[in-house]
Amino acid sequence: MTHKNSSEEHFLTMVYKVVTARAPVNIAVIKYWGKTNEELKIPSNDSLSGTLSIEELSATTSAAISEKFQEDKLWLNGVEQELSDTSPARRLLEEIRSLSYSQDLLSSHKVHIVSINNFPTAAGLASSAAGYACLAFVLGNLYGITDPAQLSILARKGSGSACRSIFGGFVQWHRGMDSDSSVAEQIVDELHWPQMRVVICVARDTKKDVSSSLGMSKSMATSTLLSHRSYKVVPERIEAIKQAIVARDFEQFAEITMQDSNQFHAICLDTWPPIFYLNSTSQAIINICHKLNEYHRRNVVAYTFDAGPNACIYLLEEYVDIFLSIIREFFPICNNTISRKLEVRGRAFQESDVKTVSQYLESVGVQSMTNSLKYIINTSIGRGPSLTDVHIDSGNLKPGKD
Ligand code: DP6
Repeated sequence: MTHKNSSEEHFLTMVYKVVTARAPVNIAVIKYWGKTNEELKIPSNDSLSGTLSIEELSATTSAAISEKFQEDKLWLNGVEQELSDTSPARRLLEEIRSLSYSQDLLSSHKVHIVSINNFPTAAGLASSAAGYACLAFVLGNLYGITDPAQLSILARKGSGSACRSIFGGFVQWHRGMDSDSSVAEQIVDELHWPQMRVVICVARDTKKDVSSSLGMSKSMATSTLLSHRSYKVVPERIEAIKQAIVARDFEQFAEITMQDSNQFHAICLDTWPPIFYLNSTSQAIINICHKLNEYHRRNVVAYTFDAGPNACIYLLEEYVDIFLSIIREFFPICNNTISRKLEVRGRAFQESDVKTVSQYLESVGVQSMTNSLKYIINTSIGRGPSLTDVHIDSGNLKPGKD
């Protein structure tokens, strides 16, 4: 019989557990804008979104519990974040701890959390949605809470739109009557509409001027259009777009998506003082989309914009090549005398032939704009969060590192 030395014995009895997950971004086609309860993040209207593939945009979070950790700690993209008592991440952690089924063993120990995004944070690319969905999912799994509805409610308290990132495919967030009924639900999964694609035209990849939280609280306080939207317009649109999604009716889906984006930005303009999230590049993209749809005499592309100038385009796969070719032709990058085309990240695409592109551009008839877009992301609809064995390689997760 072999005897373990005391340090080996200590390691075997030591409490240490690490869990890692990846969570997706979602882009709303019926927008959430306004809260009836700021603290609990209960929205003034239902919203509906598509969840994007984690291949191109995702948050990855590893969380470790160790008896050796002295304090709870969180690092986002390598930078330590303050976990003050009022921070959403701290609240999320404490709530999950209080719900934990393994109170005795795990809840008394501290956690170290490390999170990274594979895309710019706070640039209007729904990084907080992916981030908080990932945090709720990972901590839930660490402490034994895996019911998706419960995780959605927890994620919501971090950032409202995060509750939708707990599910793949197309997802509705029911505004609910109280905290327990304000929860997201999957309408169809990621396999339902395989032809659906998403192209994101990145006009800015730095922090936004007016955060969504601040913007929506100003709109709640001053916009007279907002209540009309919440009580009259959104309920009808939610039903209509759900039907369009179930029936894979792109014509209807696109119409409602574009109208809802425009109404959300109209509410920003109706806010006092007004908030401008769109810029001239966004407006040019809106124009191009309408011209393309006119050219085809039906909707082949649908734009939607969140709290920033980046355009998110929903379109069917057969139009991806031509749309990307037009955008790249229209928005060249010029440095001194050298001109090049925009980089397309993500899924592969095939450049359309010059003749077809110029034919389209002629029909679009808008002046091209240089250096207005930074790059393009070519992606699709994807699944919800999942666990992975590949933990973030960070010294901060190791027991004894405090
Ligand atoms: C325009 O979920 O970021 O993207 O709940 O205050 O964290 P907080 O806001 P957030 O707002 C998202 C607003 C939006 C529309 C949407 O995603 O539905």
